[in-house]
Amino acid sequence: MVSLPGLPAASLLRFLFLGLSALASPSRAQVELHVPAGLSRLQAVEGAEVVFPVWYTLRGEVSSFQPWEVPVVFWFLEQDGKDLKQVLSYNNVVVSSNPRVSLVHSMPSRNVSLRLQGLQEEDSGSYHCSVNVYKGQRVTKGYNSTSFELNVLVPPAPPSCRLLGSPRVGTNVTLSCQSPRSKPAAHYQWERLPPSSQVFFAPVSDDIRGSLSLRNLSSSMSGVYVCKAHNEAGSAQCNVTLEVSTGPGPAVITGAVVGTLVGLGLLAGLVLLYHRWSKALEEPANDIKEDAIAPRTLPWPKGSDTISKNGTLSSVTSARALRPPQGPPRPGALTPTPSLSSQALPSPRLPRTDEAHSQPVSPSPGGVASSALSRMGAVPVMVPAQSQAGSLV
Ligand SMILES: *[C@@H]1O[C@H](CO)[C@@H](O)[C@H](O)[C@H]1NC(C)=O
Ligand SMILES: *[C@@H]1O[C@H](CO)[C@@H](O)[C@H](O)[C@H]1NC(C)=O
Ligand SMILES: *[C@@H]1O[C@H](CO)[C@@H](O)[C@H](O)[C@H]1NC(C)=O
Ligand SMILES: *[C@@H]1O[C@H](CO)[C@@H](O)[C@H](O)[C@H]1NC(C)=O
Ligand SMILES: *[C@@H]1O[C@H](CO)[C@@H](O)[C@H](O)[C@H]1NC(C)=O
Repeated sequence: MVSLPGLPAASLLRFLFLGLSALASPSRAQVELHVPAGLSRLQAVEGAEVVFPVWYTLRGEVSSFQPWEVPVVFWFLEQDGKDLKQVLSYNNVVVSSNPRVSLVHSMPSRNVSLRLQGLQEEDSGSYHCSVNVYKGQRVTKGYNSTSFELNVLVPPAPPSCRLLGSPRVGTNVTLSCQSPRSKPAAHYQWERLPPSSQVFFAPVSDDIRGSLSLRNLSSSMSGVYVCKAHNEAGSAQCNVTLEVSTGPGPAVITGAVVGTLVGLGLLAGLVLLYHRWSKALEEPANDIKEDAIAPRTLPWPKGSDTISKNGTLSSVTSARALRPPQGPPRPGALTPTPSLSSQALPSPRLPRTDEAHSQPVSPSPGGVASSALSRMGAVPVMVPAQSQAGSLV
């Protein structure tokens, strides 16, 4: 076993391939690998399967598989910034520690196509296939290699639509749309549904960030707005319902209502006090019987007729307003209660936002840990090369 720890993956691969090519004598039959034209770069969607079709022929030999023919096959995966991984090998037996990776045809065969199932985003990279062909166990018939680029695409996960701002006539709002996962990055398209269908373009909508700016809102802009997130692999959408309210905003309405209620309450209090005050003056005996406490709270002496008879309404009210009545309110009296104002407060209607799309992304089937792939990287790459190289000389 030879390990070359200091060597980058690509150099190791080149070393391996060039070294073996040099060892192959030109007089011997050459291994020719065949790949359907235009198939060196493949794109596939996550979860799908992909096949790298490769088969070999021997130059100057009969075209069909011979009983003496012994192919030794390796499939490697090269990824940016990672060690070269051995994905699969065939040397009498097929060895693959990842159940999602297999050879399409049962070996031995001249067709050494590789199949990857349940594709994951991490499966992207360069797949190198190397084929050595021996006559029996010792004599080499040649060597060749080929590679494929695989790009695993992820369709956009269902985006979430949001309404930023409070939609009132004359204001601005932004509708935002974001897909949590997508490869390559999703592009966004905003549309308004019928009856007032509309498609939005830049600068109103930003197809990269997914935002739609709606300025100077009018009630005719109310409606359902749909955002579609799309890339080469697929699309997903969400929607948001815009309800443009007329008139001032909820805060202003609340303030106005509270103010009105407070004013009404004060007015009612004044009316009540004036009523009680004038009644007390007209029927002092009755008043004492009905309400023994209230007269004692009067801020002026009982017999001061001059004040009560000549006093204006304002002087009376200002005196009583400073000191609230201590006795229990009479039945049927118009007394403002604290609950009155809270009951009458309107609950401002908020725009609906559809969030049902923001479901978690379900794990992809297969469930093969990516560590399985990396474990394969530990398999020594040089085993058959070295054991056979000695026999060549
Ligand atoms: C590899 O195969 C190609 C054609 O597929 C051929 O031209 C080339 O000579 C082969 N290389 C070796 C080392 O046999
Ligand atoms: C080898 O197998 C692949 C995958 O099954 C297939 O597409 C290709 O046609 C086969 N090649 C030959 C020469 O049969
Ligand atoms: C709405 O947007 C316009 C243009 O960007 C800006 O001039 C205006 O001040 C904004 N209005 C509000 C209420 O923010
Ligand atoms: C907002 O829209 C109204 C009518 O829809 C228009 O009269 C007004 O000029 C617009 N304001 C701005 C700042 O565009
Ligand atoms: C809006 O989204 C909800 C769930 O998020 C969905 O049920 C509904 O069909 C969508 N409406 C339209 C018009 O797309």
